[in-house]
Amino acid sequence: MKILLVDGTIFGAKTGALLRQVEQYIKEYNNELELEILYFSNLKHQILDGSPLNEDMKMMIQKFEEADGYIIASPIYQASIPGVLKNAFDMLNPKAMRYKPVSMVANGGTYQHHLVVENQLRPILDYFRCLVTPNYVYSHASHFDENNNITDEEIKDRLRELARVFVEYCKLSGTLSKEPVDKH
Ligand SMILES: Cc1cc2nc3c(=O)[nH]c(=O)nc-3n(C[C@H](O)[C@H](O)[C@H](O)COP(=O)(O)O)c2cc1C
Repeated sequence: MKILLVDGTIFGAKTGALLRQVEQYIKEYNNELELEILYFSNLKHQILDGSPLNEDMKMMIQKFEEADGYIIASPIYQASIPGVLKNAFDMLNPKAMRYKPVSMVANGGTYQHHLVVENQLRPILDYFRCLVTPNYVYSHASHFDENNNITDEEIKDRLRELARVFVEYCKLSGTLSKEPVDKH
């Protein structure tokens, strides 16, 4: 199974640090999964406005379509997810992530915005009919040192548990046919 780990930040390094920690834990639970991190900071983003898509956007869409599962890592911007992440979801076929496992991790500058994950990111993934794991992880600047390494042991434990459940959801997805019996 191919797992796409999406780093939705375009400026900093904390969201990527969360993602690499999850990557390590997933490998510990299942070293047969094919893991790839897609850093949005490396892409030339293009707003979905009807213009022909550039090569980076085509490549991004292809990676989403080919993946069998996802870890979505997002910084919090203006009490929501970054525009580039919403824009990326807008570019996908609604069936691209259907019945595929997804876990969410997010980082914010305040503690107050942890429900952005629950109230804004999860509904989008529910629309795509993803198998969203019940647990997600929200971290804050105080959980990192000055070099953006995760220092908080509780956050690491929560990321490990997220990885454990995600790997179980991968097994579930493997046995669930993606062919619908309805027309929707
Ligand atoms: C444009 C912008 C808007 C932001 N808005 C919020 C916000 O509303 N709530 C919050 O908790 N953090 C906010 N932040 C802080 C970011 O969430 C934080 O810098 C980010 O998670 C750090 O992760 P990174 O190093 O991967 O970029 C904002 C940062 C930027 C750049």
